[in-house]
Amino acid sequence: MNRATPLLPGSTIGVLGGGQLGRMMALAARRMGYRICVLDRDPRCPTGQVADDVVVGTLDDVASALTVAERSAVVTLDTEHVPAELLARIAAICPVRPGPSVLATIQDRAVQKRFLDDRGVPQARWAPVGSPDELATAVAAIGRPAILKARRAGYDGKGQVRLEPGGDPLAAWRAIGQPPAVLEVLVPFAREVSVILARALDGEVRFYPLAENVHRRHILHTTRAPAPMPDQRRRHAETLAGDIATALDHVGVMAVEMFELVDGTLVVNEIAPRTHNSGHYTYGACATTQFEQHVRAVCGLPLGDPRAFTGAVMVNLIGDLWANGEPPWQHVLARPEARLHLYGKLTPAPGRKMGHVLLLDDDTDRALRTAEELVAVLAT
Ligand SMILES: Nc1ncnc2c1ncn2[C@@H]1O[C@H](COP(=O)(O)OP(=O)(O)O)[C@@H](O)[C@H]1O
Ligand SMILES: [Mg+2]
Repeated sequence: MNRATPLLPGSTIGVLGGGQLGRMMALAARRMGYRICVLDRDPRCPTGQVADDVVVGTLDDVASALTVAERSAVVTLDTEHVPAELLARIAAICPVRPGPSVLATIQDRAVQKRFLDDRGVPQARWAPVGSPDELATAVAAIGRPAILKARRAGYDGKGQVRLEPGGDPLAAWRAIGQPPAVLEVLVPFAREVSVILARALDGEVRFYPLAENVHRRHILHTTRAPAPMPDQRRRHAETLAGDIATALDHVGVMAVEMFELVDGTLVVNEIAPRTHNSGHYTYGACATTQFEQHVRAVCGLPLGDPRAFTGAVMVNLIGDLWANGEPPWQHVLARPEARLHLYGKLTPAPGRKMGHVLLLDDDTDRALRTAEELVAVLAT
């Protein structure tokens, strides 16, 4: 089939990984009349619960991934931690979007950082760590405080450890299992923001309102959108992110996480070549959700309208809230501006993302206060 021929409703979209991002994408896709075939080790995973078809297998199982490809018109991802080599195998059977080369660049932090350095994109000073000698060299070059991050497979702060002034670098490296890593200077940011964009098959890029993010214990806690920011700086953030998406020849939704310094300088933290937790507000606040937008992009359709109809605040519901059993949802459901999203995860665990609440309110300061009140009530 011609690359430009759009895949219309009725087609099957293969999804590698069955987490909450795949679930919300599947819900959007099925609303539009697409079919979903998901690969996951657990048939009861969040996406499996709402898919047409589940292939049971791990994300590095070639035979299972090829089965998904044979049943699908296009294959996409719920996580960037699918081996790029496996994607290259699938690409021989059906289109994979985003493509294997995007994933090969993103899924190794050192490769990603070199890619950004080569393009002159501002980022935190960093150095590779592959041996005790290299670690000592990196600490001498980067200084402390710093953050040591495994090159691969990190998310929600997993595989990361902070190195304090005077701290023992080897002990820190051992604490994350001594993987190939990068050492990054600790950035004294004023706040964190992310650009959520979509890039279509024909190269068109569209931006969602900028998201402002607060992390707790390295896990996203709240997102506010639109992030208050002077227009010129916001356009600069969009240019940085859009240029990255285009340089990668990315297809689909992408999030570019950034640190904003006190003087307004923007520094890129990391790239996620997929829908993103900080884009959940689009599902409720925007004309086209990030999930529909991703479906449109990977199916070769024109992008939808990303405009927001309201301000919004998203607050994540982490497994710790389940310490005393199922949280009292009636407090969320009693609020007309609140939307409850639960991902259908069967076992809550501390630090695990179980769902989120979206508050639709043009007064985002008020919504941020409401979010904290709700989390406090849900924790009791
Ligand atoms: N170099 C850094 N300086 C300051 N804070 C950082 C740095 N790197 C990460 N963090 C904090 O940790 C969070 C998670 O780190 P990140 O690199 O985005 O990994 P992931 O999201 O894959 O777990 C960031 O959003 C930020 O709050
Ligand atoms: Mg991150």
